[in-house]
Amino acid sequence: MSELAGLEIRQLRVSFDGFTAVDGVDLDVRPGDLRFLIGPNGAGKTTLVDAVTGLVKAEGSVRFGGAELLGRSVHRIARSGIGRTFQTATVFEELTVLQNLDIAAGAGRGVWTMLRRRKGVPEPVAKALETVGLTELADSPAGTLAHGQKQWLEIGMLLVQDVTLLLLDEPVAGMSHDERQATGELLERISVERTVVVIEHDMDFMRSFARSVSVLHAGKVLSEGTVAQVQADPKVQEVYLGHAAAEETATDVAVQEA
Ligand SMILES: Nc1ncnc2c1ncn2[C@@H]1O[C@H](COP(=O)(O)OP(=O)(O)OP(=O)(O)O)[C@@H](O)[C@H]1O
Ligand SMILES: [Mg+2]
Repeated sequence: MSELAGLEIRQLRVSFDGFTAVDGVDLDVRPGDLRFLIGPNGAGKTTLVDAVTGLVKAEGSVRFGGAELLGRSVHRIARSGIGRTFQTATVFEELTVLQNLDIAAGAGRGVWTMLRRRKGVPEPVAKALETVGLTELADSPAGTLAHGQKQWLEIGMLLVQDVTLLLLDEPVAGMSHDERQATGELLERISVERTVVVIEHDMDFMRSFARSVSVLHAGKVLSEGTVAQVQADPKVQEVYLGHAAAEETATDVAVQEA
């Protein structure tokens, strides 16, 4: 595995036709952190991850392990050890869990070679299966997995690619309480050896598992710190209270503070 690296974002700016979605963000994620990125709908969370992974054009600077990422191609950024998941799962439904992991592990070696070569499970794949808790389901088609299990498979696909920075976009959306708990524990395990950034709306989930939190609002970092620090920040309470879609969350934050 590559050496554990941190993420250093400076004055990141992303505009779409004159609309600035990410507006001068500075963000430091130290190696081995489990950072939560929260904020109302449209705050710029996904766009920030898109910028880091090269999917949208951005200004400023994004350094990972000291190397500048902005201006690099999506593939080159991926090869530097950065992987992400999307708000909707993207696994090959007809292929088994194992085949999905094989393809991820052998990215570039050709899908059909991967499918034919089925003699034993390579060590990194076995380890990823174990880590994400899908060993028993290795031979099940991914399409038959529960929603939560698909997200775990996606995380497993990043693990076999030796990703050292995982950027996860709302990994527990739509999950049951037990699945959330299992996912949180999975992220805690993973982030011992890697750096993890999680975009999330679920405040209970954040409170249980975040090591640090950044709050984004209207393209800017509104607040940053531990869960307690961020929750106690009047600016954060104001943003959530003033946002109809996040009313439930706001009440939740207020109750927890009481
Ligand atoms: N490709 C695009 N073209 C134009 N505007 C965009 C594009 N992508 C995002 N935006 C706008 O940028 C802003 C930030 O969007 P983004 O998806 O990053 O928010 P988010 O914080 O991830 O929100 P959510 O919590 O709803 O996922 C929004 O106003 C959105 O409409
Ligand atoms: Mg988003």
